[in-house]
Amino acid sequence: MDKIVVEGGSRLVGSIPVSGAKNAALPIMCAALLPTGASTFKNVPLLQDVATMGKLLRRLGCEVDGKRTLTIAPPTAKKAKLEAPYDLVKTMRASILVLGPLVARFGRARVSLPGGCAIGARPIDQHLKGLAAMGAKVTLDHGYVDVECKRLKGATIVLDMPTVTGCENLMMAAALAKGRTVLENAAREPEVEELALVLNKMGARISGAGTSVITIEGVDELGPIEHAIIPDRIEAGTFAVAAAITRGDVLLEGARPEHLDAVVAKLRGAGVHVSAEADGMRVRGGGELEAVDITTQPHPGFPTDMQAQFMVMACVAKGQSIIREMIFENRYMHVPELGRMGADIHIDGRTAVVRGGKKLSGASVMATDLRASASLVLAGLVAGGKTEVLRVYHLDRGYESIEKKLRGAGAKIKRVKT
Ligand code: EPZ
Repeated sequence: MDKIVVEGGSRLVGSIPVSGAKNAALPIMCAALLPTGASTFKNVPLLQDVATMGKLLRRLGCEVDGKRTLTIAPPTAKKAKLEAPYDLVKTMRASILVLGPLVARFGRARVSLPGGCAIGARPIDQHLKGLAAMGAKVTLDHGYVDVECKRLKGATIVLDMPTVTGCENLMMAAALAKGRTVLENAAREPEVEELALVLNKMGARISGAGTSVITIEGVDELGPIEHAIIPDRIEAGTFAVAAAITRGDVLLEGARPEHLDAVVAKLRGAGVHVSAEADGMRVRGGGELEAVDITTQPHPGFPTDMQAQFMVMACVAKGQSIIREMIFENRYMHVPELGRMGADIHIDGRTAVVRGGKKLSGASVMATDLRASASLVLAGLVAGGKTEVLRVYHLDRGYESIEKKLRGAGAKIKRVKT
């Protein structure tokens, strides 16, 4: 397992390229199961999760070629394999996103239940409730979910919460259903909007994506397309925090500020200068950072995927910050590791009280989940001395060459094979 070694104290200056969005690429790769014919996607991020999704699609009978530019040719009904096995699903929960497309296109799917992960139980009851409402027969046995339906029928589905992949699964299922489907209390994330745009390019008839009511008029067939993946707003937000805490001046190439309104508002509240430029977003650390309070919420609220990164900012800002994680029940695993670096953070249920103004000190720390790992790298950038982040395979799931990108802007950081 590799580790990342960071020498704290460098100011980040220069530009950092932002890769394609992991959480857009994964559902869009699954959407490639729907049309008759091969689709091609550009600006695909080179991530472990994308490679895993490629492996899964091959297991289902797809031809998957390329890396940055990816071509996915779905199988014919005769050649399609309709089972997503535990050995793959357990490594990446987003595998559940093949469920909707498989049932819509081939009438059946058997997918291993993703189970929980480090940050929470991560149930899929809303995905299954929606498919059942569309006429599918859903059975759970031996750790798998079996979904069967000759042709899904449109339905009005009121979601208990705005689940991102739940909406994406049901949008893909409804695209080929008979009749109209309405998703109420839908997720409004940019990645949901992007998937709807891709499906409409394939010939689907979806409206309302980006709002909390999405309407899908089912069609009989979809066609293959070409599409470039949008930039990763969470990667961009992560590097924005890096620029802020090192009082740097960084252009995030390709970043789209409009995908990060809540994050930009909090950065500005902390005294960070953020401006839109023709080719991205510029972030300049001001003087000493002000403490800001964060409550994570569904989009357009403050994204849970940026909570760990903002906790590092809170550690070094002057004053006390209150952070409330309202989406996942166990997303504070970075806290004990930050504590080892000298952070003063008190957890009470979903609330973290961070006493700022700390000078963190470098240490060997353990990555536990994707965004927690990123926060440990950020802490290393400002800690005194050397920080070693172990188990960086967590990072590689969602960040493409993070050490190369940060080094390109002046960080003293390297990957060490162990
Ligand atoms: C997506 O996960 C993202 N993953 C997550 O990013 C992100 O943190 C999350 O949305 C929230 O924004 C991908 O897009 C691949 P949810 P998802 O369904 O869809 C509960 C990262 O770091 N829920 O919106 O799994 C659930 O337990 C990852 O890139 C149900 O109860 O999240 C959670 O509390 C981490 N039943 C809340 O809803 C369901 O059927 C939101 O979950 C579905 C969800």
